[in-house]
Amino acid sequence: MYTQAMDLMAKEGGPAQKPLRSAEEVQLEARFEARIDDGGFIEAKDWMPEHYRKTLVRQISQHAHSEIVGMLPEGNWITRAPTLKRKTILLAKVQDEAGHGLYLYAAAETLGTSRDQMYEALHTGRAKYSSIFNYPTLSWADMGVIGWLVDGAAIMNQVPLCRCSYAPYARAMVRICREESFHQRQGYEALLTMMNHGTAAQKEMVQDAVNRWWWPSLMMFGPPDAESPNSAQSMRWGIKRISNDALRQKFIDATVEQAKLLGVSLPDPDLKWNEERQSHDYGPIDWAEFWRVVNGDGPCNRERLNARVDAWEDGAWVRDAAMAYARKQQQIDKEAA
Ligand SMILES: [Fe+2]
Ligand SMILES: [Fe+2]
Repeated sequence: MYTQAMDLMAKEGGPAQKPLRSAEEVQLEARFEARIDDGGFIEAKDWMPEHYRKTLVRQISQHAHSEIVGMLPEGNWITRAPTLKRKTILLAKVQDEAGHGLYLYAAAETLGTSRDQMYEALHTGRAKYSSIFNYPTLSWADMGVIGWLVDGAAIMNQVPLCRCSYAPYARAMVRICREESFHQRQGYEALLTMMNHGTAAQKEMVQDAVNRWWWPSLMMFGPPDAESPNSAQSMRWGIKRISNDALRQKFIDATVEQAKLLGVSLPDPDLKWNEERQSHDYGPIDWAEFWRVVNGDGPCNRERLNARVDAWEDGAWVRDAAMAYARKQQQIDKEAA
């Protein structure tokens, strides 16, 4: 999933130094800006400024990486799901995430980057993915809490992307958001079952999982607006529609009510309703931890990356076989022609 946090991850820079532009380019850029101002969409074949293209390649590929790395923490639990029903649901969810990765890699490819380039960036650690997936999944309750909080935060982040100015990305997001909402509901429903019909130990398991995932879920919206330098340009271009802090607040306000219904507490003593703001106040977020995890030192960063690289290497024979088959078919078609 894409998280606003990623805006900050690519520190390679603001707009590149602009070379002198031809009159034609100036005209094209004016047309591009006008279309964005009108709330129009940009298609793959349309002219776009280089920095817009680069920003999107970075964001969409990081989003794609997050979908497929996000399969790992939950994939660990498929063999240990408590019932056949839960196993089927979890399998479907993890498979959905693979599909999200594919839509998004395909959307990024329309901007002129190749799948191989994107994988290479991920496998060598140059590309980032959502830091939430660098936390371990310690109990079955984590599966429910990931659905409820992590997919829930993803939906908050992703619904505005359905109106992103780059049309292939927006179209991919429409399909993805429909599935994310199933992910959120299945997680919440699994937790409701544990809380309403479970043993004391199972209820404790749910509370423990909520305690561990609450703060990392809030970090998924990215640093405070004041410290999010890439945001302004992305807002201007209609890539990003709502600010990090506004989305985080929306998520907290929705989640507090859901936590009450579930019968769990949220691990923040400062969390309380503010009548004046008509929103919840909340305690300080540990941004030092966020940056530590983003920069590779979270509890599972190495494990996740190794798992991806191993999967890539173990799958080499499948790619080789597919290429050999395609070449053979090409030969057959040529001879038949
Ligand atoms: Fe997803
Ligand atoms: Fe999901």
